[in-house]
Amino acid sequence: MKKTVLILTCLAVVTMMSFSVFAEDHTIVGEKKCSTCHKKAKYGNQTEVWATSAHANAYETLKSEESIAIAKEKGLGNPWEEASCLKCHTTQAFLGAELNVKGKYVIEEGVSCEACHGAGSDYKKKSIMKDHDAAVAAGLRADVTENCVECHNEDSPTYEAFDYDARWEEIKHALPEK
Ligand code: HEC
Ligand code: HEC
Ligand code: HEC
Ligand code: HEC
Repeated sequence: MKKTVLILTCLAVVTMMSFSVFAEDHTIVGEKKCSTCHKKAKYGNQTEVWATSAHANAYETLKSEESIAIAKEKGLGNPWEEASCLKCHTTQAFLGAELNVKGKYVIEEGVSCEACHGAGSDYKKKSIMKDHDAAVAAGLRADVTENCVECHNEDSPTYEAFDYDARWEEIKHALPEK
């Protein structure tokens, strides 16, 4: 009897541990989910800046003649299907994370919010979003200014020297002043 209790306790602990590990594998919910709040003026409408930036078009770019020519020269197939192009031109391939089945992610969103800010399944709740430390613990990237060069680097076939301040100026967005 005691043995059974011990085994059950062990099982419970192992199960809890594997759940907490699972919880750290944050999933992608999609730009539309973030934008339900972040397109609002009261939250700063970061959506508008993003939607009119090159990042929002990064997947469509892979269907351009220029992309097809680059892929051909490298002996690749359709660039919009090549992992070696998708990894910097789409959020999911870049993060390598799973998709939240309830999410609204579509590949056409290109390089979207979560590519930079982290997969949002666990921090997207308003109560967590308002608490910086809780949001970071739930997967929000704290060092977001440092991730640009994970894509803007010499592995990009069209690489141009990357100057953070100048490039950030083109896509800058923030929370409203308090
Ligand atoms: C339910 C509404 C809601 C959703 C959905 C939401 N946010 Fe937020 N977000 C907020 C609020 C509210 C704040 C805090 C605003 C403040 O403090 O003035 C915030 C803050 C932030 C911040 C700054 C946090 C910090 O502490 O530095 C970032 C970055 C952010 N959100 C990105 C996202 C991304 C990316 C998504 C989608 C994965 C998302 N948000 C989804 C409401 C939301
Ligand atoms: C290491 C990340 C990375 C990889 C891999 C990558 N790209 Fe890109 N791509 C970028 C970045 C970053 C830019 C923006 C260029 C810049 O301003 O620095 C870009 C821009 C482009 C552009 C120019 C868009 C314009 O504005 O005219 C094309 C075309 C393109 N990529 C096609 C491809 C193709 C095709 C592949 C696969 C063979 C590929 N890329 C692989 C990161 C990458
Ligand atoms: C290319 C990367 C990138 C993309 C895409 C992106 N952001 Fe950001 N975001 C940043 C950077 C960098 C900052 C500035 C962080 C800093 O200054 O510490 C920022 C700042 C923010 C802030 C203000 C954070 C604060 O503490 O003041 C919010 C809110 C935010 N982003 C939401 C979004 C939402 C929502 C989307 C999608 C609609 C999005 N971002 C897309 C890189 C990105
Ligand atoms: C997941 C990969 C990825 C990350 C991370 C990323 N970018 Fe980009 N960025 C791209 C791609 C791909 C393009 C080209 C999109 C296109 O033209 O279709 C691009 C284009 C741009 C452009 C437009 C350049 C032009 O010549 O039109 C700016 C500005 C830019 N990025 C700034 C930033 C900044 C600042 C950060 C970090 C806060 C950042 N990016 C992070 C992939 C990325």
